[in-house]
Amino acid sequence: MNITAVCPGSFDPVTLGHLDIIRRAAQMFERILVVVMSNTQKTATFSVAERCEMLKTVTAGIGNVEIESHGGLLADYAREKNAKAIVKGLRALSDFEYEFQMALTNKRLNPAADTVFLTASAENMYLSSSLVKQVGMMGGDIHDFVPECIYDNIMKKFAKSINY
Ligand code: PNS
Repeated sequence: MNITAVCPGSFDPVTLGHLDIIRRAAQMFERILVVVMSNTQKTATFSVAERCEMLKTVTAGIGNVEIESHGGLLADYAREKNAKAIVKGLRALSDFEYEFQMALTNKRLNPAADTVFLTASAENMYLSSSLVKQVGMMGGDIHDFVPECIYDNIMKKFAKSINY
């Protein structure tokens, strides 16, 4: 089978947790479309172009991964790409209810795509982009949270966006 899977997210910015899920998904499916989308519940710090650029940098070594962005619904994007799977990482129980709700909504909107949850690795269980932003913007060390190759980009952005 030749299955295209979509890995959607805000990726604001991409963390080691996201990268772990993308890598593992890339071993399970033939083609992975990592898609930067907007989450109406969040205000983004990085532009869509910046988020795509960081994702391209960190996934450069993974052959079957492509980076895209989409401003509309995930269900429509998956249909357009003929994707049969939507891959999401699940960290803690707290993620579950919201993710379950999104999975059921997406299934209703696009019955051809199923959501597949990958359990976050133990070392990334607590990681989130919001945590990276909180720590980084306050001058804390985020080396353990984000891929090294985008560390400088992230810190440069944070230096510009600190507001007291
Ligand atoms: O990284 P996030 O913020 O948890 O990702 C959430 C995201 C972007 C995947 C979700 O908000 C989404 O799917 N947005 C696209 C618009 C859409 O389809 N919304 C309805 C989801 S049921």
